Amino acid sequence: MENVLVVGGAGYIGSYMCKYLSKNGYAPVILDNFSRGHRMAVRYGKLYEGNINNDGLLAKIFTENKIAAVMHFAAYCYVGESVTAPDIYYKNNVSATLNLLEAMVKNNVNAFIFSSTCATYGNPIDVPIFEDHPQHPINPYGRSKLMVEKILKDFSQAFDLKYVCLRYFNAAGADPEEELGEDHRPETHLIPLVLQTALGMRDQVEIFGNDYPTHDGTCIRDYIHTDDLAQAHLLAMERIMGGFSGDMYNLGNGKGYSVNDVIEKASEITKTSIKTKVVNRRQGDPAILVSASQKAIEELGWRPKYHELDAIIETAWKWHKKNPKGYEE
Ligand code: UFG
Repeated sequence: MENVLVVGGAGYIGSYMCKYLSKNGYAPVILDNFSRGHRMAVRYGKLYEGNINNDGLLAKIFTENKIAAVMHFAAYCYVGESVTAPDIYYKNNVSATLNLLEAMVKNNVNAFIFSSTCATYGNPIDVPIFEDHPQHPINPYGRSKLMVEKILKDFSQAFDLKYVCLRYFNAAGADPEEELGEDHRPETHLIPLVLQTALGMRDQVEIFGNDYPTHDGTCIRDYIHTDDLAQAHLLAMERIMGGFSGDMYNLGNGKGYSVNDVIEKASEITKTSIKTKVVNRRQGDPAILVSASQKAIEELGWRPKYHELDAIIETAWKWHKKNPKGYEE
């Protein structure tokens, strides 16, 4: 069985990836420092605890396990926080990733799947967004991810490193088997916040601005289930193992939902009236982000299963109902 190093394997998407890999005949090896991940989310695979800028630990992992590929989920991912604390975004998302890549080159591990983001596009000129759309990120989070995309291009030309960048749109939903779900501390993401409000754990949902140029004035996003993201990672990894390198793929549903649409759908699913309050815009938020993902469908053979927002929110709702406080640790 081939080993896949899942960096950030205790996080929201990384932990689900470990489950998906193990269901598909691979052995996940997890590296996480638990700065934002959860011990209870580590259920599949062998765990190493520590940082990706710890060269000794990386050498140990690469020596003790023959690693076929590295998937890198360990990043800070709050758009708002990146504006107020850019230092930690560049340190963690860029500098530490550079260290991981150097260690891979040194240890002759040459397949890398990078979790990039639609935030690298900034305010789109054309929607839906194709992969060749200009990338002008408007927040440090997006810039940190774009920097790594550029580093990867240079590394792959200079060294024996094959990579794929997967630009996620808004990751959402929970494990359909209800084992793993979304639990950020602090929670800043819309769907978990709305569901926690439906559970009575929060008084209201703040809507960050209703004066955007959209049908109802609130921001539009394209929500994609973690199961579909995991499927794309596996396909991308197998494509790299087949000798392919250097491409990027958008991963989204191609459908945009406004903040109000999300709240309305969640209200129907949870059969709850969700109290809201319109507040100021959040810095760094583009008005509309919707993906064109044909390239992943055609080239990777990606077949997303969760096309509708309702189905995505339903999986999240089941997990939140079962785990109202998230992972209790
Ligand atoms: N929102 C609110 N109120 C809240 C939380 C969010 O109105 O309490 C709005 C945001 O302004 C945004 C939308 O809901 O318009 C979605 O916000 P999230 O915080 O859930 O997600 P983001 O779109 O900010 O961020 C996500 C991922 C990033 C990714 C980014 C691309 O977390 O990793 O999408 O924009 F890069």
